[in-house]
Amino acid sequence: MCPSRTMNSADSPKKESDVHVPVMVETVQELLRASQGGTFFDGTIGMGGHGAAILGANPSNVLWGNDKDGEALEICREKLPADRTTLLRGDFRQILSHPVEIFDGFLFDLGVSSFQLDRPEKGFSYSRPAPLDMRMDDRLELTAAGVVNTYGYEELMRVFRDYGEFGRPDRLVKELMMARRRTPFQSTDQLKEFVRSLYPRQKTMDPLARVFQALRIEVNGELDGLEEFLLNLIERMKRGARIVVISFHSLEDRIVKNSLKAASEKKLLTLLTKKPLTAASEEVEGNPRSRSAKVRAGERT
Ligand SMILES: C[S@@+](CC[C@H](N)C(=O)[O-])C[C@H]1O[C@@H](n2cnc3c(N)ncnc32)[C@H](O)[C@@H]1O
Repeated sequence: MCPSRTMNSADSPKKESDVHVPVMVETVQELLRASQGGTFFDGTIGMGGHGAAILGANPSNVLWGNDKDGEALEICREKLPADRTTLLRGDFRQILSHPVEIFDGFLFDLGVSSFQLDRPEKGFSYSRPAPLDMRMDDRLELTAAGVVNTYGYEELMRVFRDYGEFGRPDRLVKELMMARRRTPFQSTDQLKEFVRSLYPRQKTMDPLARVFQALRIEVNGELDGLEEFLLNLIERMKRGARIVVISFHSLEDRIVKNSLKAASEKKLLTLLTKKPLTAASEEVEGNPRSRSAKVRAGERT
């Protein structure tokens, strides 16, 4: 998740893009050595917070910013200097069809942005009524409603087990398949009510959060081939180029950790973070969502 801070009314932000604060910006800039100058690829440019910091670190810096979300790119187009920025729309995995060796640094700030969470029509959040959508890229067909209404038993088991971390999702899946026969799921509220009725004694939001997380990961293919992608990318990076990855939940972080470790064992990468770096307590205080951020980085040998 992309942490953000909502400014109080005294700050009077004019635009949506002004109220999003990227996580661990200084740490990321240092790891990328952005102040030394170079060409950088931000695979998840989002609101352009990290991208703006990269461009601001050295006037000669050049940035390629990529995102699946067309509205995020519109904000970046307004916000970032056109003469030093190239914007790409699509999955960051597409960078493998570009000349990877031109880049001095790569940044991936994984997951969903607070801008996306805050847009009710996206349906990422169970805290407000919305269509069950959850697509970062609205040009794609599969929505969360598509997953819950059309997937078969085994596919749903995989989604909730692997991405929702339910040990035994059998009951959830069977009940969901019965419920959808009566009324197909259309809205976040409908799904929320169903999950709550299934886990009435759970005081926490946990099963609900995990159902929503699982659907979001499936709809956006967030973990699909991520390890292979990172390994391929590292292999093709030029010597001395750096890669920085920020993850926000354990499933992502495990993949990032294993990928960087595998690259280091193949002598392709020097790890710059033996353990993941996390946000300082002052940052967490001002921006509670940064609490779960984990930063891992390496340099191509
Ligand atoms: C955590 S936010 C990034 C925030 C950004 N660093 C900033 O400073 O504003 C994640 C962004 O990555 C995008 N995203 C997530 N996975 C992606 C992928 N596989 N390919 C392209 N964009 C992706 C999302 O659409 C979202 O805008």
